[in-house]
Amino acid sequence: MEVIQVSNVTKSFKIYKERASTLKERILGRRNKAEVFTALDNVSLTISKGETVGLLGRNGSGKSTLLKLLTGILYPDRGTIDVEGKVSSLLELGAGFHPDFTGRENIYMNAAILGLNKKEIKAKLNDIITFSELKDYIENPVRNYSSGMYMRLAFSVAIMVEPDILLIDEVLAVGDTAFQQKCMDQLLKLKSNGTTIVFVSHDLGAMEKLCDRVVWINNSKVVDDGSPRRVIDKYLTYLSEEENKRLIEEDMVIEPDSSVPIDELEVEEKNETANRWGNRDVEITDVIFTDGQNNKKLGFLSGERMHIKLKFRAKKNIENPVFGVSIVTINNIHCYGTNTSIDQFVVKDLKQSDQGEMEFVVPSLDLVSGTYLVSVAVHDINGNQYDYHDKKYSFKVSSTINDVGIVKLKHIWRFREI
Ligand SMILES: Nc1ncnc2c1ncn2[C@@H]1O[C@H](COP(=O)(O)OP(=O)(O)OP(=O)(O)O)[C@@H](O)[C@H]1O
Ligand SMILES: [Mg+2]
Repeated sequence: MEVIQVSNVTKSFKIYKERASTLKERILGRRNKAEVFTALDNVSLTISKGETVGLLGRNGSGKSTLLKLLTGILYPDRGTIDVEGKVSSLLELGAGFHPDFTGRENIYMNAAILGLNKKEIKAKLNDIITFSELKDYIENPVRNYSSGMYMRLAFSVAIMVEPDILLIDEVLAVGDTAFQQKCMDQLLKLKSNGTTIVFVSHDLGAMEKLCDRVVWINNSKVVDDGSPRRVIDKYLTYLSEEENKRLIEEDMVIEPDSSVPIDELEVEEKNETANRWGNRDVEITDVIFTDGQNNKKLGFLSGERMHIKLKFRAKKNIENPVFGVSIVTINNIHCYGTNTSIDQFVVKDLKQSDQGEMEFVVPSLDLVSGTYLVSVAVHDINGNQYDYHDKKYSFKVSSTINDVGIVKLKHIWRFREI
């Protein structure tokens, strides 16, 4: 049974650009010419009873606007919206609370708005306060609440009134980890009791865990709708491509964490530019990052294939050149470093004017999400540098899951009862 039906909905906002106006214009109330911005463009969506649907998309794509339309705070310009059942919503922080009233008074007001009578509210009041863990703060006016406390109160009310449909916009992120976990458990409970949930979040891990279905909104339109894994992966690929374009445009140069002291020996050796040294008998002329299909890239998904290509040119005849690559985190923690000598990869001797490409292939880039800096080098067998590029390059890694650390260790879990 469909409980939410959005058909061909368009919603625009008039935006008045600020510009200097004369006193006369102000008195006469003349406004600047409005520009129309379409926040949702011909969007259709149906949600069945008991479904948990995630909405994802970049900032400004229209997610909150859609939730406000479902709540009835906004009306569409065109199209229709049908929502059946008792709706409880957690929109932006602060929406729905009166700042001068205490937490307790706000619970009464909110629950009444959601359709509970006084007796019903009284019966639930203690549960709501207990769940929020606000204790004595419940007697303080909410204007003095921290954003996390605000969220605790809003979440506790929203779930305790046992809604048929629960709309959640991004607010869980301000809760501390323990409360977030408690909210997530509560949402899973509501879900198993048949509550329909629409969940907006940038926490893709939480979204994948909670949702049966994910809808991706991009530039005011629904661009995908389906299984969480598939849509989230597609979205992440899109994000990393977008990020990649941006990085390539900016030709990204990231400075490593300056709080980390630079080795004094290194400073002495650095005679040319700050992050490049060596006698240049062999020169690294270019460093290119690509995926397995030879597309230039600087944003990778965790586990994706990465190629680092070092273009070089020899100025002299060189015996036994050694090429090396090392990867560090943005705060200078070494993730991995190796060279062709360590790996016993024999590089043929170079003749004067030889040009070529040394490729470092990582079949599965098993790093957690973050920004990484890369150094590359070519030196002789004793470590005398021909050309060393110290942390001159960088790439980003994004991931669907929230594991932490640097390297994704291959692992398995085993559980045994004894
Ligand atoms: N009341 C309003 N007046 C003018 N423009 C608005 C209004 N509400 C939203 N917009 C615009 O509509 C677009 C969509 O906004 P919306 O809040 O729905 O984005 P969102 O997907 O929720 O983004 P975020 O991830 O940042 O929360 C934005 O460009 C925003 O500036
Ligand atoms: Mg929003």
